[in-house]
Amino acid sequence: MTATANKIEKYDLNELIRTVAKTELGSISNVVNKLLSMLRDQSTNAAALMQVIEADPVLAAKLLRRVNSASYGLNRSISSIQESIVMVGFNGVKELALNMKVAKIFERGMQSVRYSRKALWKHSLAVALLSKMIYRREFKERGDDIYSIGLIHDIGIVAEEEVMPQAFSVMLDKTSSSMPITAAEAETFGYDHQLIGARLCTAWKLPQDMTDVIGRHHSLPDASKPTAKLSMALFIADHYCHASGLGFEYSITKTQEDADKICASLNIQQKSMEVMLADIKKEIAELESTGGLFG
Ligand SMILES: [Fe+2]
Ligand SMILES: [Fe+2]
Repeated sequence: MTATANKIEKYDLNELIRTVAKTELGSISNVVNKLLSMLRDQSTNAAALMQVIEADPVLAAKLLRRVNSASYGLNRSISSIQESIVMVGFNGVKELALNMKVAKIFERGMQSVRYSRKALWKHSLAVALLSKMIYRREFKERGDDIYSIGLIHDIGIVAEEEVMPQAFSVMLDKTSSSMPITAAEAETFGYDHQLIGARLCTAWKLPQDMTDVIGRHHSLPDASKPTAKLSMALFIADHYCHASGLGFEYSITKTQEDADKICASLNIQQKSMEVMLADIKKEIAELESTGGLFG
């Protein structure tokens, strides 16, 4: 750890990753890891999913409250995780459980005019939903990792804020229309949230494709890579969420021109993007108004 002249603590990347392991962010990595691998593994059975959820009573209670909420519109009350899986669907329960666990990380933290963890959580949720929608509609594939990638793609920002709040504020103050967050991070810390995210994926033993996509999510996707579809869906979703107010100030690093280029290469019409975005905005607003944003 180093202190600048005005005593602001900054960590080098290795120290940061080690320190994160001792925070709440690190403590949930075990359950998140299990849920993520269950999300990608279609052979996971209901018993294994139930075991993970029931081992975490707070998560189990939240999940039951959520599936019994009006937004699911079920005509009878659900009293067990097993029933929830039957009624909401296997993948639905897995995604809900993952949302709730990851949301915990975003519940507290800094609130400022330019940034709040709540805004970052809304952004992450919106990107997860939109990138999955793009993947399924445009590529006609399940894309099992895309939802998880969307949900945690900016986790490096939370790590910076959690471990070095003062330096994080200094970094945020540097951001402007000509200084995007990645440049301000590089100047302040010597690394950015993409790199932290990739290192956390590795530390948490998450799949390599997640590590690769999260580690380069602000760069124009390389069409020749096996992860190109994941990267493209994430890139467009991230851009459109920021551009439509589901982000925070100066966090935009992508240009409309680049997003347009990717949409054109995938033959995604502007109208189709608008329809998907309107759906996501409606879903997020509904979650917020029913108190379901954090599970
Ligand atoms: Fe990002
Ligand atoms: Fe983002």
